[in-house]
Amino acid sequence: MKLQLSTWPQIEAYLKRSQGIVLPMGSTEQHGPTGLIGTDAITSESIAWAMPSHCDVLIGPTLSLGPAAFNLDFPGTMCLRPSTWMALVMDCIQSLAHQGFRAFYFLNGHGGNLAPTLSAIQEVQWMRSLAHPAAPPLFFNVRSWWDFPTVNAMRQSWYGAGEGMHATPSEISITRFTHPDHCPVDALPAAPALNADFLRAHAGDQHADAKHHRALFPDGRVGSHSALSHSAHGQALLEAAALAASQEYQGLLKELAA
Ligand code: NI
Repeated sequence: MKLQLSTWPQIEAYLKRSQGIVLPMGSTEQHGPTGLIGTDAITSESIAWAMPSHCDVLIGPTLSLGPAAFNLDFPGTMCLRPSTWMALVMDCIQSLAHQGFRAFYFLNGHGGNLAPTLSAIQEVQWMRSLAHPAAPPLFFNVRSWWDFPTVNAMRQSWYGAGEGMHATPSEISITRFTHPDHCPVDALPAAPALNADFLRAHAGDQHADAKHHRALFPDGRVGSHSALSHSAHGQALLEAAALAASQEYQGLLKELAA
């Protein structure tokens, strides 16, 4: 069930049987010479849209613009500042909580969304703790689709170090599966490998400013061997992530019911 393809009476009826919602989160940013600019939104929403085959769930609109300042020197990238993103997430939560939604599952497709999303959730918890202590509790989970153990095992076995950090073969595989007519042929060589210190220091897309980042990673890929991507991998990754997300989402609903 998709929020944007529903009517308000349908949502009112849904709220009588469930107070949970899934919100896919992405970004609109370059993904190397052969990756689609919408990759992060396409991946998270296509996984979310597969969840209703596993459970009764409402999928909200994809939050498809995120913080990605490091990519601004690549044409087509559109970036929200982290404070704008936090305001967006808080306003989405407050709007839905006002109507009775109480369990929020954020399915993430962009590392740079993680830190400000968690901070936005804590802002909401701060407000509810101090200003609205009688309000019913809200429950949250934020999950990046590549972190599910089943998905991660596929990424490791198919790509190893070639998975890298940005324009990863796993995310491009999913877009090859969902949008085969839009994805260019990729015969690129492997991007230079990243060392463990770099991976640790820049996890969650904690990258340099736009000019510095493009100088360091001139074709836009960050350690990723995008040519390893394959449509069949994308289908398997999507299906594994949708199943794992559905199971985790149902666990979140159990917290609500406890
Ligand atoms: Ni991405």
